[in-house]
Order: sequence, then C-alpha cells, then structure tokens
Amino acid sequence: MKDASETLESLLKEKRSFSPPKLFSAAAHVPDLKSYQALHTKALKNPDAFWAEQAKALHWFHPWEKTLVWDAPNAKWFTKGKLNVSYNCLDRHLKTQPHKTAILWEGEPGEVRKLSYQDLYTEVATFAACLQTLGLKKADRVILYMPMIPELAIAMLACSRIGLIHSVIFGGFSAQAIRDRVEDSKAKLIITADGGYRRGKIVELKRNVDQAIQNTSSVEHVIVYQRTKHEIPFHPKKDFWWHELTAKNKNLADALPLDSEDPLFILYTSGTTGKPKGILHTTAGYLLQAHVSTKWVFDLKDDDIYWCTADIGWITGHTYIVYGPLSNGATTLMYEGAPNHPHPGRFWEIIDRHKVSIFYTSPTALRAFIQWGEKIPHEYALSTLRLLGTVGEPINPETWMWYYSVIGKEKCPIVDTWWQTETGSIMISPLPGATPLKPGSATLPLPGIDAEVVDGKGNPVPPNTGGFLVIRNPWPSMLRTIYNDHDRYSEHYWKKFPGMYWTGDEARRDEEGYFWILGRADDVIKVSGHRLGTSEIESSVVSHPSVAECAVVGIPHKIKGECIVAFATLKQGHVPSPEMAQTLINHVAKEIGTIARPEEIRLVPRLPKTRSGKIMRRLLRKIAAKEEIVGDTTTLEDPSIIEELSKSMA
Ligand code: PRX
Repeated sequence: MKDASETLESLLKEKRSFSPPKLFSAAAHVPDLKSYQALHTKALKNPDAFWAEQAKALHWFHPWEKTLVWDAPNAKWFTKGKLNVSYNCLDRHLKTQPHKTAILWEGEPGEVRKLSYQDLYTEVATFAACLQTLGLKKADRVILYMPMIPELAIAMLACSRIGLIHSVIFGGFSAQAIRDRVEDSKAKLIITADGGYRRGKIVELKRNVDQAIQNTSSVEHVIVYQRTKHEIPFHPKKDFWWHELTAKNKNLADALPLDSEDPLFILYTSGTTGKPKGILHTTAGYLLQAHVSTKWVFDLKDDDIYWCTADIGWITGHTYIVYGPLSNGATTLMYEGAPNHPHPGRFWEIIDRHKVSIFYTSPTALRAFIQWGEKIPHEYALSTLRLLGTVGEPINPETWMWYYSVIGKEKCPIVDTWWQTETGSIMISPLPGATPLKPGSATLPLPGIDAEVVDGKGNPVPPNTGGFLVIRNPWPSMLRTIYNDHDRYSEHYWKKFPGMYWTGDEARRDEEGYFWILGRADDVIKVSGHRLGTSEIESSVVSHPSVAECAVVGIPHKIKGECIVAFATLKQGHVPSPEMAQTLINHVAKEIGTIARPEEIRLVPRLPKTRSGKIMRRLLRKIAAKEEIVGDTTTLEDPSIIEELSKSMA
C-alpha cells in the first residue's frame, strides 16, 4: 500500500479557490452551489424517484417497472424496460437535427470528415445489417481492434443496435493481449483495420489480429476496414473487407428493443491479479448515466464543439466520445493520432481549426505540454474554448494552474472528473456553473452518488484524514459483474467494506467535504493515465525463458505520472547484463504493448521477501525511487538485502 501521508501534506497547502464565471453560471444547467446541493440531497433521500425522473431523458420502447432491484452486490435497474442505445444516440435525433454534425473527425495525416446524424444513422444501420447477414445473434461477443476512426464508433453503435456485446481493445495492445481477451470473451467476430496511423507510422492492426487468433477457435470472421491501404495478409474464407460488405448490403437494420439489463459491452481492464478483468456494463443504466453526466459535467449546449482526447479503447472514450455526447445530440470531435505529430502544437491547432468549445484531456498530456513550453499554445488563439476537463489520474495543483491560465485564459472552469472503468460514468466532479473549484480536487460527488472516505472498518474518517474511497449506494452505470467471474466481482469490490463499493483508491475530504484523490491503494499503476496491473507485467517478464522471478513497482515520473520499474532475478546459467535487461524490456513491450514498457529492468541476485515469502514491493518502490527507506523492515527474511539492492541501483 502506498504511503499516502506525503501527498496528503503537500495537497493540504492548497488553499486557492475559483468561483464559476458569472456568465457561465447564468446559462448553466445547474447554475449555483445551492441548486446542486438541493439536487444531491433530494437524490440521496429518494434515489429511486431521482433516477426514475432522470430516466425520462431516454427514449423507451417499453416503460420499466421497478427503478432498482438491489440484492447486494447484484443490481437490476429499470426492470422490464425495453430500449436501444443506438436508437437513443441516432434515430431519435433524425427528426430534430438530421443535418447537425454528429462526428467531426480529423485523421493524423490531416484529412477531415464530418458525419451528420443522418449520415451516421445510415452507416450504423447498414453495418448492423451486414453483421446480421454474417449470422451474428444477440449477446454474441464482437471484438473491435481499430484506429481512432469514425468506423470504430459506427461498429460500436451497430453492435448495440442489434444486441451484440462489443469489446473494444486499445489499438496499442499487442497480439498476446488480444488473444487473452478473445479467449475470455469467446468472441465470434473481430472488426479491425489494415492499419492505423500513429506518429506518422503505420500500426499493423490486421497482422496483430492474425497472430492473436492463430490458435484460438471462437473467431469465425474478421472484418477489415481499409484505412492505410498498405499490403496486409488477407484470408478470403475468414476475412471480409468492410467496404465490400457494406457495398453489397442495401438493408438498414432496425434498432431492436433490448432489455434494460441486456449487456452492452465488456471492457477489459487491469486489476491486482495477472488476468485482465472483463468489466461488464448493461444497457439502460449505463446509457442513462452517460447521458446525464455528459449534460451536467460538460454543460452541453446546442452549438458546442466538444472534444475528448481519450482513445475509444478506454472507458473515457466509450462514455465521453461516443455514448454520452451522441445520446445528447452533440457534435463530438475525434482525432486519430498523437498530440505532437507532426508538431507539438497539433492539439491547439485542432481546437482553433474546428472551433472547439469543450476540451477534455488527461493530466499526462498536460504535463507533456508544459514540458514542451508555453510558447507553443501561445501561438494559437484558443478563443473558442469555454470549458476544460481532466480525467484519469490526480492532477497536481501546478499543472491545474497552467491549464487554467495558459489554455483557459482564466475564463474557463476546469472539471477534474474522478471515475473508473467500473463506475461507467463520472462520479465525482465539479458542475462547472455551480461548484467553486480548488486546484487538485475533483470536488464533490455528482447528484445521486453517495461517495465517502472511510477507515479500515468502514467508518467515515474526520476531515483531512486519508482513508479509503467508497461508494455507499448502487448507481445506474455501475458494472454488473466481471465477465465469467462473478465471484471475483463480489469479492473484489464488495467484500472489503460490506454493503459498500470499494474503489481501490485512497482519498481525503477537506472541511468543506471536497474530495482529494490520493492515488491507488492496490497494485495498480497508472502510466500516462493508463491502468496497468503489476502482476500482468510481472507475468510477462517471467514468461521470458531466462527469468526466474520478477517484481514490478510504479514510481513517480515527471510526465507519465508513474512509470514502471521491474526487478528480476535470472535462472541459473544466465548472466545479468545491460543487453539482457534491454531484451526483457523489449519482450514486455512485444507481449503486452508499448504502454507497458518498463522504464528500467534491474537484474538483481534476489528479491526482498518477508519471512512468509511475500515480496516487499513497498521496499522496492523506495529503492527504485531512490528514496530513504523508513518504516518497518523487521519482517524481512534477510535485512542485508537492502544494502545489496541499493548498490545494484548505483
Ligand atoms: O485511481 C483513479 C484514477 O484512475 C482510476 C481508474 O482508472 P480507469 O478505470 O482506467 O479509468 C480512468 C478513466 C475514468 C481511478 O481508480 N483516476 C481517474 N480519474 C481521476 C483519477 N485519479 C485522480 N483524479 C481523477 N480525476
């Protein structure tokens, strides 16, 4: 567990506060703190009535009977209701705004595509009909491994239209990661592209898919979208070209009336054991909270151009590029490539070119921009921006201040949004017209969310005391299970504090009830805001034939927030050398993907263990970060190892 006290102390010094600009509040959906408090209190007093009222914002084919059936930890929201996510995101906007741009896309090489709601509907309904002709049936799993192109959103919406469960895999993951997910989900279909662009280079998506499914049996077909048009292997019996399938098909698939609790998607994420967890979200609850949170937090207006820079391979892209904005009828901008390609001002150029008004990004990206220098954003007007957001990791107050002044010109509120793959939508965040901001704090829970910081026994801690962040009531967009592992779901999230959802984060609340997230309490590392489990990386290092044992820790990194340092021992007959360390680093990058590439791998004679044989990661973290070793080391099997390891770092 991390030593929270240092972070706690430094954040405690943060006393700055920023009230919402008056003009912003005047036009906001929730215009002041009192309105927020009234809404939140009402919601906590009678959550069923509150969510029932909110659910009127969706289109239902058939009304629900009960708002919630809660048999902890199993939730059923809006029982017996029938609706369709794709209908809510597309069909219902056709009468009112068919020509409004739904997806505004910019490719890394610079092309721009605009798909109106009418265009997007036609593409989605056509592609859904193609999926039906391939014989796919409701609840079949479909893996999407694609670049950040409109077709990724089209494929998601097509799946949701006919009840297929999609599972998007981040395009930066390697063949092995795809194979694990294919095997767990037993996907019948993979939708991919020949390649995608990243920093001017082609990412070999189709080749990775071919490698991944070599010895798997569930995948019957692969649909390939032609993006890069470079040479790829194509297997005529198994593979279909997207453009050929859609050209042949003249049908438009109807949106099926699906049950509220029908699964919508599985998204794999890292946990504390080696196996990625398939987080399962269902139809009505997820869509409802994606919808209302987007409206509240981003305070959407009809003419906004909204840009979330996340990749759709992560939950942020699911909820806040696709389902939240489209269900609100907004214009959502999608960008395919890297923030610094071909130059480090690319993001700011995109904002000016497309008149972006709402910009949602990560602290990691901001730290990189800070390092590249203020001069770069100063070359752009950035005058259309009215609201900024961050997500994925704690934002330190100085980065917040930079964002506020250099990008927001001190006129744009910043929404620091705390949430998780599991929560499905934003849980703690300012409402930009209502909540006074404090740099570094995610501020207050959204209406209806009963968040608390508790001690080891589950009792709320006094103000300004670190503790465990929990959610005390069920919420519509909560995960329903871990795919294929319901026991792990109950055990991991609901056992530590009976009756409460355990987030895995540490936090504190200040005297005004504001939440300050301190970081993970478990073995999850956040590298550039991406969630990685130490044990997945350890398994990957150990899968190299020369390695005997390995322990991975996360240490602070100026840009990435955290970076990975691995300690490994070699098997007899293998000699430690810088070349060997490099081989192992490359091995991990190949096995999992470059996001999991360790910053360093230290080859050591042995690892520090307790007498009961547990590796002391706390100690390794200190050694890797070159910090002084304080605290109890008496449980070490052999205390002389500290000196031995410290020397190996010199
Ligand atoms: O530790 C918290 C951190 O990201 C974790 C969730 O990671 P993931 O499921 O990948 O989802 C990221 C995008 C929603 C959390 O447990 N985290 C997320 N947002 C914040 C944050 N930490 C501090 N401040 C945030 N705003």
